[in-house]
Amino acid sequence: MKTLAETVQERPWVGWILFLVTMIIVFTLGMFTYTVVERRTEAQFAYTLLTDVDPFEPRPEVWGKNFPRQFNTYEQMADTTFRSKYLGSQRRDLLEDNPSMVILFAGYAFSLDYNLSRGHIYSVEDVRQTLRTGAPMEKGDGPQPATCWTCKSPDVARLMHEYGSDGFYEKNLSDFGHEVVNPISCASCHDPETMNLRITLPALSETFQRKGMDITRATHQEMRSLTCAQCHVEYYFGDGNYLIFPWDKGMRAEDIAEHFDDIAFTDWVHPLSRAPMIKAQHPDYEVFTTGIHYQRGVSCADCHMPYATEGGQKFTDHRIQSPLNNIANACQTCHRQSEAELIRNVYDRQDMVKELRTKLEDVLVTTHLEAEFAWNVGATDEQMAPALHKIRHAQWRWDYAAATHGGSFHSPLELARTIGDGLDIAHKARREISGVLVELGHTGTVPLPDVSTKEKAQAYLGIDLEQLQSEKQIFLEDVVPEWLAEAQARHQRWNERKADPDHEGSYLFD
Ligand code: HEC
Ligand code: HEC
Ligand code: HEC
Ligand code: HEC
Repeated sequence: MKTLAETVQERPWVGWILFLVTMIIVFTLGMFTYTVVERRTEAQFAYTLLTDVDPFEPRPEVWGKNFPRQFNTYEQMADTTFRSKYLGSQRRDLLEDNPSMVILFAGYAFSLDYNLSRGHIYSVEDVRQTLRTGAPMEKGDGPQPATCWTCKSPDVARLMHEYGSDGFYEKNLSDFGHEVVNPISCASCHDPETMNLRITLPALSETFQRKGMDITRATHQEMRSLTCAQCHVEYYFGDGNYLIFPWDKGMRAEDIAEHFDDIAFTDWVHPLSRAPMIKAQHPDYEVFTTGIHYQRGVSCADCHMPYATEGGQKFTDHRIQSPLNNIANACQTCHRQSEAELIRNVYDRQDMVKELRTKLEDVLVTTHLEAEFAWNVGATDEQMAPALHKIRHAQWRWDYAAATHGGSFHSPLELARTIGDGLDIAHKARREISGVLVELGHTGTVPLPDVSTKEKAQAYLGIDLEQLQSEKQIFLEDVVPEWLAEAQARHQRWNERKADPDHEGSYLFD
């Protein structure tokens, strides 16, 4: 065989071809290295701050100047078109879907208006719009305390810094209508200097302290769930409407109920059965910790804030939503099943829990109405007490399972166990009431009213929805624009101070 040198000597054009091929390879490699370097620089630029951000800066657009990718995905939460079988970002009237809730929440604001949650970007707007907050025409008016704002806005941490947490909680919701205007955003979860995750609301850190734990020692992966646990939890209002998490005895439904019994806590007295009730908020974190994903070290952010890529840059998708709208990034990073299969897995679990929950709901509605009948035919407090305590506990278990909207996927077995327990207690309550009715000489069936639709159930309770809606409309048209104008003037003052090179100290506080 001829050597390469001999070949080139015989046919010089082979040499030229070899030279050309080598040049092309070198050029391509050079280009490749150049793009890699460029992307690296881009990655560094993403962290080069264009603007200083105060640790209490509540406006997402100010943080967004430094982090456009996170901000752009955050803004996509404005899109409310996605709808899954039970959940999604659309506003959905849960009382219309499920009229039993009107009876279960009778005497409590949730019997007036209860919508499915939407994206974080709507958190403040939805508080103003729900009938549950009434129509406060003056500061200090209205049925709800300022505490209700706590998990709706990063303006709250700013106000707590100014007034102290006690000082904040003891005000009325409407006292701060002009102050709380920015929806949940960057400041709720991040430290602007390092962009590390942080806890800004006191209730979670205080709960850790009571248990002898220090939340600042949580691992990075734990923080990817604990930032959510600032708000997606069960809570109650203690003295001075101070926000507290009832986890001293544990986080399962029965542990929390025991805590509420110990401190004789009642949210409201049910007007039909007269049972002392507890309302469950949204024990999402509690229920999640009993499920397989938590036990395998998966965090809330893994599914609800998966990684995305853009221009070679990997970043966290800040459109927090139902993961079923983004299965490729949210699930298929770990599971190799098809999208259809994974959706079926989710719906199967949700269907099964829903089926059980509806059974408990039906028994509870009947039990409240039978208790009402027993009072009407002359039952005494003493006769009714055992049944009422059981109604409180059965409905608490139902609500714990119903109020955690993602729970039937996060931990289906735990919810089935809790509902099963509730069914047992509810049947015992019914038996107690039958016993009372027999003592009173009533042995026939109990006549029950028709409460099968939202309208019929609300009419039975004497709720005048039209009146409430028209008051709300006046509030939204007259008061809210004033709140927004005040906020805009404040934001303007902040901008001026921020732009002033002579200004010292925080640009947020006077
Ligand atoms: C400051 C309180 C707060 C924090 C922190 C918070 N949430 Fe929320 N979240 C809310 C509120 C309030 C809503 C309902 C907003 C509405 O309906 O207007 C909500 C709604 C949601 C929804 C429903 C979205 C939809 O499109 O229906 C999901 C999912 C969610 N949050 C997940 C999370 C996850 C995951 C975290 C942590 C990474 C988190 N949240 C952190 C308060 C919070
Ligand atoms: C509900 C909590 C929450 C809110 C609100 C939030 N983030 Fe994040 N953010 C996270 C989590 C969780 C991560 C992932 C952090 C990790 O694992 O290190 C993250 C990561 C980041 C990172 C690091 C780079 C990356 O993409 O992973 C940046 C920068 C960032 N967020 C910017 C923002 C900005 C800007 C806003 C407001 C528009 C915002 N975040 C709002 C929870 C939040
Ligand atoms: C970070 C990895 C990770 C992500 C993301 C993830 N999973 Fe999983 N998933 C797991 C692990 C680990 C298990 C436990 C399996 C085991 O240990 O055998 C599991 C278990 C499951 C199971 C079986 C649970 C049961 O009840 O027995 C289902 C169903 C499931 N995942 C669906 C999903 C869906 C749907 C998503 C997206 C919304 C998702 N997973 C996202 C890691 C993940
Ligand atoms: C393994 C993936 C996974 C993890 C981890 C996870 N979720 Fe979910 N989550 C889901 C799925 C799937 C649904 C059901 C969505 C649907 O039906 O559209 C859901 C539903 C929700 C909802 C209701 C969404 C809506 O559209 O109204 C909230 C709120 C929520 N999760 C919060 C959390 C919080 C807080 C954590 C951590 C404590 C968490 N999730 C952890 C997968 C996950």
